Amino acid sequence: MVVRTQGWWVRRVVKPAVFVLALWPLAWLVRGALAGDLGANPIEKITHWTGFTALTFVLLALCVTPLKVFLGLPALVHLRRMLGLYGFFYALLHFGVYWVDQTVFAGVGFSPRLVAEDVLERPYITVGFTAFLMLVPLAATSADRMVKRLGARRWRALHRLVYFAAAGGVLHYLWKGKMEEDWAVAYGLLLVGLLSWRLVAGRLRERARAVPARGVMGVVPAHPSPLEVGD
Ligand code: HEM
Repeated sequence: MVVRTQGWWVRRVVKPAVFVLALWPLAWLVRGALAGDLGANPIEKITHWTGFTALTFVLLALCVTPLKVFLGLPALVHLRRMLGLYGFFYALLHFGVYWVDQTVFAGVGFSPRLVAEDVLERPYITVGFTAFLMLVPLAATSADRMVKRLGARRWRALHRLVYFAAAGGVLHYLWKGKMEEDWAVAYGLLLVGLLSWRLVAGRLRERARAVPARGVMGVVPAHPSPLEVGD
């Protein structure tokens, strides 16, 4: 009953609120652009802000599973897909702005060739692009019907890519980020924490499976994946 009420609150109140709040970085950029308030190099500002926001949402999506376990709020899971999709949305904007800056503003049309060359030539761009490519199948298979179509096991395996995408995003940030170096390091540490938690949780789950009667630290095997990325 408590879990059901919690689910109602998260789906009907928290989720719509987070949906609106997540548009704030975009609204901030649009307002700044319209007011001519984005500094001497607005494109650079937009690139940095969209990249930073994309990584923030990817990491937030990864925080959902540990938070729901630590806070005892399973309903938080209803936020994960939305946070991940916002990560993809801002990464798409980030890539779009970079593309327009590299090509249209350089007076060479949309030139995919120029972008491809840059992706191959500059290692930090290669890393960012790889992280972006990893987010694409995650966004494409985020719908419930895709879980059914792929099967839960394969879907979960695919969605573990999010850790690699986040690692690529952090590396790309550490390599070339300018906004605040402290943030890049903090995001790196957060990711290390999340990965460590994932490893420990995996071990505990294995042990819980091996001791079906007792379970380990409340991880009851009948509930196969309370600690997993894609549960
Ligand atoms: C699609 C391929 C990508 C390209 C071409 C790209 C390109 C760039 C460029 C040109 C910058 C500015 C670097 C500078 O001169 O300081 C940047 C910064 C950044 N990008 Fe990307 N990026 C890509 C994907 C991603 C992805 C997928 C993420 C996150 C998941 C990401 C997160 C960041 C962050 C956090 C920054 C630093 C922002 C700051 O300085 O505060 N990027 N990216």
